[in-house]
Amino acid sequence: MSAELRDLALEVAREAAALVRQRREAGVEVAATKSSDVDVVTEADRASETLIVERLLARRPHDGLVGEEGSDRQGTSGVRWVIDPIDGTVNFLYGLPQYAVSIAAETDGEVVAGVVVNAATRVEYAAAKGLGATRDGIPLRVRPPAPLHQRLVLTGFGYDAGLRAVQAAATARLLPRVRDIRRLGSCALDLCHVAEGAADGYVEEGTHLWDYAAGGLVATEAGARFLLLPGAGGRPVLLCAPAHGFDEFCAAVADAGFLAAERE
Ligand code: IPD
Repeated sequence: MSAELRDLALEVAREAAALVRQRREAGVEVAATKSSDVDVVTEADRASETLIVERLLARRPHDGLVGEEGSDRQGTSGVRWVIDPIDGTVNFLYGLPQYAVSIAAETDGEVVAGVVVNAATRVEYAAAKGLGATRDGIPLRVRPPAPLHQRLVLTGFGYDAGLRAVQAAATARLLPRVRDIRRLGSCALDLCHVAEGAADGYVEEGTHLWDYAAGGLVATEAGARFLLLPGAGGRPVLLCAPAHGFDEFCAAVADAGFLAAERE
């Protein structure tokens, strides 16, 4: 079942990624803003989500779904799709080749299949629960263990200025303790980078289910651990790192001030 859901997600994400690529080539404009002036949505986000919803429901009419651009449908089959039609919308707007279509499938609330397709480069990440993760069909594995000071960490910043101040202060405290920090602009792809060994960890407060549902499964199926903890800015903090170095990464993130202070 999880393999079937993954294969359907990949087929649909591939088509949506082609649409997104065509829209980028045709030129992009901001259609609206959402949570703040810098949280943009383009017509391509909406068109991609519409296409994904239509394709999934044509094949599986009884499924539920939730999407970043507003799709919200109760299903009766026990399967719910979690859709980010363009993760990395700001990169899409500027033409930085780090934006992706992300589709996950949950059964009874658990993610069992996930795909992330980089619309600019066409690289495809896919995973099914218990069946491993792949990049363009080739199995993925996280990086081998490294001491904290040799780890490359990915992070991201939300669209709310107050949350950003908290994130920036914690990032500044983590930076001297690790090899370096990158902010690439797509949570879904960041998680896939942990999965493929292109980074040693990822931390960000305030991401949404559609940002991380598919990439989280790709990462865990490749040997990472994935956890949500209460954040210093009042939103959940997403942590993802290879299982072998996870506890040390969590401790460093906590020391840096990403997490909410524990109550007595
Ligand atoms: C954003 C990206 C970004 C992350 C933000 C997300 P969007 O998603 O994943 O990397 O830092 O928190 O909101 O808006 O491009 O779909």
